[in-house]
Amino acid sequence: MSTLITNIGELVTNDPDASDLLGIRTDAAVVVEDDRVAWVGDASAAPAADTVVDAAGRAVLPGFVDSHSHLAFAGDRSAEFRARMTGEPYTAGGIRTTVAATRAASDDDLRAGIGRLVGEMRAQGTTTVEIKSGYGLNVEDEARSLRLAREATSETTFLGAHVVPPEFADDPAGYVGLVTGPMLEAAAPYARWIDAFCERGAFDADQAREVLTAGAAAGLRGRLHANQLGKGPGVQLAAELGLIAVDHCTYLSDEDVDALRDSGTIATLLPGVEFSTRQPYPDARRLIDAGVRVAIASDCNPGSCFTSSMPFCVALAVREMRMTPAEAVHAATAGGAAALDRADVGRIVPGSRADLVLLRAPSHVHLAYRPGVPLVEEVWVSAEPRD
Ligand code: NIG
Ligand code: FE
Repeated sequence: MSTLITNIGELVTNDPDASDLLGIRTDAAVVVEDDRVAWVGDASAAPAADTVVDAAGRAVLPGFVDSHSHLAFAGDRSAEFRARMTGEPYTAGGIRTTVAATRAASDDDLRAGIGRLVGEMRAQGTTTVEIKSGYGLNVEDEARSLRLAREATSETTFLGAHVVPPEFADDPAGYVGLVTGPMLEAAAPYARWIDAFCERGAFDADQAREVLTAGAAAGLRGRLHANQLGKGPGVQLAAELGLIAVDHCTYLSDEDVDALRDSGTIATLLPGVEFSTRQPYPDARRLIDAGVRVAIASDCNPGSCFTSSMPFCVALAVREMRMTPAEAVHAATAGGAAALDRADVGRIVPGSRADLVLLRAPSHVHLAYRPGVPLVEEVWVSAEPRD
């Protein structure tokens, strides 16, 4: 079964061999066959297909790849957000509120929450999403969170090292032992990645290294939350361990920027967090101009940032982090795919998964030019149009 999409206003391919960042083609057509992109080229040279879809001049982009989210949770922290907007700082202390609610929730409630948020994401153009645990913080609830997240995505991340839960307040070393021992063993069958929150008040560099090293021995690849609330050792640790991505990167020294450039570790920027915590935005220009690879993700979670919208994050990246619209769209598609080490998504080239977004707009620029407007009109996942 093949489908020809023609009359595309602007096609963003992210073809790495193109001369421009987004590999933009005009007067282009795309053929998808089964779940893959089969052909990309000039509309005048398009092959025949079983069906033809008229894009009516709309822009066609790869689906967004949201490489950082925390969707396995229960409860609501809108009161914490309201307090922040009148001057309370974000301290990550509210994580424990969500842990209590998550432990008390049934499987069906957690599953419904994940499904609702993945649905919101899908409607806004996200076709690949990474989901972390981190609100169970005991063996049973971390494994359960990952088992339920696995029902929604293959990109699952074990974040037992999110914070030390209250019952281990006097024994953080004991908690790290639990995370690297029985909890890892229970979580590993459901996870592809392992993550830690390396920050003052959460885990220090030695603890984070211990967690990531144990994860690697269990077959999980590492990623890290670092330098979100202040300068610290996390970014250097990520570079030293050769991690594929380190996320937040809000407070960076010159040495941190150099280390990211030299290691090739992707800096995943999460501008929805700074929007929702009133912290300064990460300096994306400094990173890009230094030659650091960047991705953008939502960090959708009930505390620091409760948006599921990649278009919103793209608009923030352009307006608040001085990225060009092309850089922001690339970071939210190909950048996210690179941060998950996925070559099959984030681009529209022959062989890639047919994950497409059709915008009710003629170009990708409109995602930032028209913030808050629902421009994502059609989303195809593996060649299947979904609402
Ligand atoms: O990525 N930084 C740590 N974890 C989340 C926030 C979790 C929360 O506040 O519930 C983050 O921002
Ligand atoms: Fe996060």
